This record gives sequence, structure tokens and C-alpha cells, in this order.
Amino acid sequence: MIVAGNWKMYRGPDPHALRARVAAIEGVDVIVAPPYTELRTCVEAGLTTFAQNVHWEDEGAYTGEISPAMLLELGVKGAIVGHSERRQYFGETDTSVARRTQAALEAGLGVIACIGETGEQRETGDTETVLRIQVEAIGDACGPNERLVLAYEPVWAIGTGVTATPELAQEAHAYIKSLLDRPVLYGGSVKPDNAAELMAEPDIDGALVGGASLDIESFAAICEAAARSRS
Ligand code: PGA
Repeated sequence: MIVAGNWKMYRGPDPHALRARVAAIEGVDVIVAPPYTELRTCVEAGLTTFAQNVHWEDEGAYTGEISPAMLLELGVKGAIVGHSERRQYFGETDTSVARRTQAALEAGLGVIACIGETGEQRETGDTETVLRIQVEAIGDACGPNERLVLAYEPVWAIGTGVTATPELAQEAHAYIKSLLDRPVLYGGSVKPDNAAELMAEPDIDGALVGGASLDIESFAAICEAAARSRS
């Protein structure tokens, strides 16, 4: 099981206190993805640290971007790619997501590549088509790379307090795995009180946690629920 905390553009909890709290939790790979300014502190605290994005070039005239090599030099282990907020607000496309993912994997980073349908796409019955297009873009570029993890994050469940039911999430995860055989994390309003039932589903391999990762106790409770689900 994998539980990753996506701090988004928040400062997040104290990395040393977080590390002390989660260090003894067995059976879960705990990851944090803080803003760039907190990467070094998280690495130094001993946390497995991911960036929230990564570019495909080693260096160049790409204002606001960061390269795989730069992250590796810092001791960062991977990056989230293609988060729906990047797709929605910053023009990220399936093509750019695939390029970022491929370059990061080739450089030796891990990647959590995010996919998911909007509420409207689900209502119009387009969920599987959307997921297939998103997964195939990544799969065609990278194949089932061993450092690649996918995150199913239905856009209508992110930051809304509305979580997918375990059955709905399980169905989506099974479909995603039929397209690309890699672990799939669930993301979208994962909280301590719904983590156990989600993590109990056979094709849910962990969680990508936004809001609830900003509080040490709630993040640790989700990590513990993930650990218990496979013990
Ligand atoms: P949330 O965010 O847990 O606050 O819904 C999840 C995410 O965006 O990764």
C-alpha cells in the first residue's frame, strides 16, 4: 500500500514531527509531496519526498519549471504528474503529462500520474472513454514501468468532501488496471473516517490525500487504515 500526501500550495505540517509520527507504521510506503520550498526540509527529515510536478528537459528556458535532474540532486524520489488542478488551471494535456511522466521515469524518479473524470463526464456516461484516453497516453509513452503508479482522482471528489463510494472507485480502478497493469491509488476527499472502507477494495492500492494530509494525525490515521487493510 502507498499513501501519498499532496500538500498542494499549502505549507503543510512540520516535516520532522510528521516523520516521527509515521516512521513506525509498517506495510505502507508513505510519501509527501510538499511545495518546492519545502522539498529540502522534507528530504532532510527522512520522508520519502515527491515534487508536485516535473519537466521533461534537464535544463533550459522554461520559467517556473523544474527538471528531473534537479529533483534527484535534492534527494527527491519522484513527482506527481497530471493532477487535475494542473490540467484544469494550467493547461496540462495528456501529451504534456505523458512527456513529463516518461522523462521522470527515464531519469530514475518515481511518478504518481493522475487521471480522473469530471462530474459532467460521469453524468454523460463518458467515464470509461475519458479514463481510457488518459491512461493510454501514459501507457503508450511509458508502458507498465515499475516506478509508475497511477492515481484515480475523480475531479468531482477532489476537495469537495464528496468521496466516491468504494464500489464506484473499485470499478474504476479495475478498469484502469485492465488498461495498464500498475498500482492505482484513490484520491478525492480521503479522510480518516472513509479510508478503511476504500482501502479494503482489492484494486485500491493506496491513497493520494490532499486536505487531510495537512494534519499529522489525520494523515497518520489514513496511513494506519491502509496498513490494516492488507494485514
Ligand atoms: P483532497 O485532494 O483529498 O483534498 O480531495 C486530493 C488531491 O487533489 O490529490
